Amino acid sequence: MKEEEKMKQTIKMKKNIGYIDWIKGWINIISEMLFQRIASKHLHNPIPLPSLHNLTFIVTGSTSGIGLQTARQLAESGAHVIMAVRNTKAAHELIQKWQTESPSKGLPLNIEVMEIDLLSLESVARFADLYNARSGPLHALINNAGICSIGVPQKFSKDGHEVHMQVNHLAPALLSVLLLPSLIRGSPSRIINVNSLAQSFGFVDPEDMSVVKGNRKYTSLVGYSSSKLAQVMFSGILQRILPEECGISVMCVSPGVVRTNVVRDLPKILQPAYALISYFFLSPQEGSRSSLFAATDPQVPEYCKSLKADECSTCAFISQDCRPSNPAKEAQNTETSRRVWEKTFELVGLPVVAVDNLVRGKEVKCSFGDQYR
Ligand SMILES: NC(=O)c1ccc[n+]([C@@H]2O[C@H](COP(=O)([O-])OP(=O)(O)OC[C@H]3O[C@@H](n4cnc5c(N)ncnc54)[C@H](OP(=O)(O)O)[C@@H]3O)[C@@H](O)[C@H]2O)c1
Repeated sequence: MKEEEKMKQTIKMKKNIGYIDWIKGWINIISEMLFQRIASKHLHNPIPLPSLHNLTFIVTGSTSGIGLQTARQLAESGAHVIMAVRNTKAAHELIQKWQTESPSKGLPLNIEVMEIDLLSLESVARFADLYNARSGPLHALINNAGICSIGVPQKFSKDGHEVHMQVNHLAPALLSVLLLPSLIRGSPSRIINVNSLAQSFGFVDPEDMSVVKGNRKYTSLVGYSSSKLAQVMFSGILQRILPEECGISVMCVSPGVVRTNVVRDLPKILQPAYALISYFFLSPQEGSRSSLFAATDPQVPEYCKSLKADECSTCAFISQDCRPSNPAKEAQNTETSRRVWEKTFELVGLPVVAVDNLVRGKEVKCSFGDQYR
């Protein structure tokens, strides 16, 4: 009850300062949109990658936009890439196309397709089971798949969670935790979460992650920004909790404002305005640079380690110009982050000791409603 009162007070306070955060958040996004090319003019496009032979990467949502470019460039640099997608047919067609266009001098790309639907926690768990059963290493998990259903009324997954929260935070969090055994086998390894500047105006109530209690008015932007902030908070704690010996670096990246299909649900009336301003947007290849940098640059693990050593810091955050930056002030709220961490475990049906158990090589049980694996 005391906790509930406290949260009500926080929400009330947040409502008062909310407008300022909201305006600041939008100023951030608009200035990012206008100046992102200038900020990233030191970067080549495509970003040069080292040889990635013998390294395995999973890229979720690699049939479109930023994920498509990420998977393709990793594979063209010699990596073994797993396209983790819900539309497997589209992924196979892309691979065929890339094989014929690939500059790798007739060598086949080492790329395969595995099915995952982030709107189903069961599908996520099945994916992780199948991958872990190979008993092979995983060098980087790129949690790229995401949705931003602007203007769409509130919707829920069959697991009962608001869809942005499920696709952008809960499902990737479950995937990251369940794949820990493979990431440990691949150590040093990385978890890269494709996040967004929208986290800067997000607000997460750990007791109401799906925004159903009526304390806050739901809009699709509230759903999107909260899911991205929850991901930053969760990632910060995950990095802190993972023992150093595991050799896993956890980070979030911002791709910039990128011309992709992410706002495919945009109301018709807004589409001409979107087409006009998209002139300022980065191409998907430019938008993939921060993910590729985070996944391959040799200095990134050191950066993550230095943040882990600093008690006050939050999750490592790399911006679209491939430079470290600070996530939202709210993400530094350690008490809320802790509660988001615990609530996330509850909502994905994992015990909160799951990370500890997996790190020690023990099994964990995952429950979705009455079902146990
Ligand atoms: N574009 C931007 O300006 C921007 C800015 C900030 C952050 N981001 C983030 O960047 C990431 C990539 O987005 P994008 O811009 O490249 O958008 P996109 O072109 O729409 O690509 C999103 C990918 O996610 C997949 N996906 C969506 N729902 C899924 C589900 N339930 N299960 C499995 N896969 C699912 C999509 O698959 P289907 O094709 O099958 O739907 C698609 O492959 C997202 O996390 C997004 O939030 C984008």
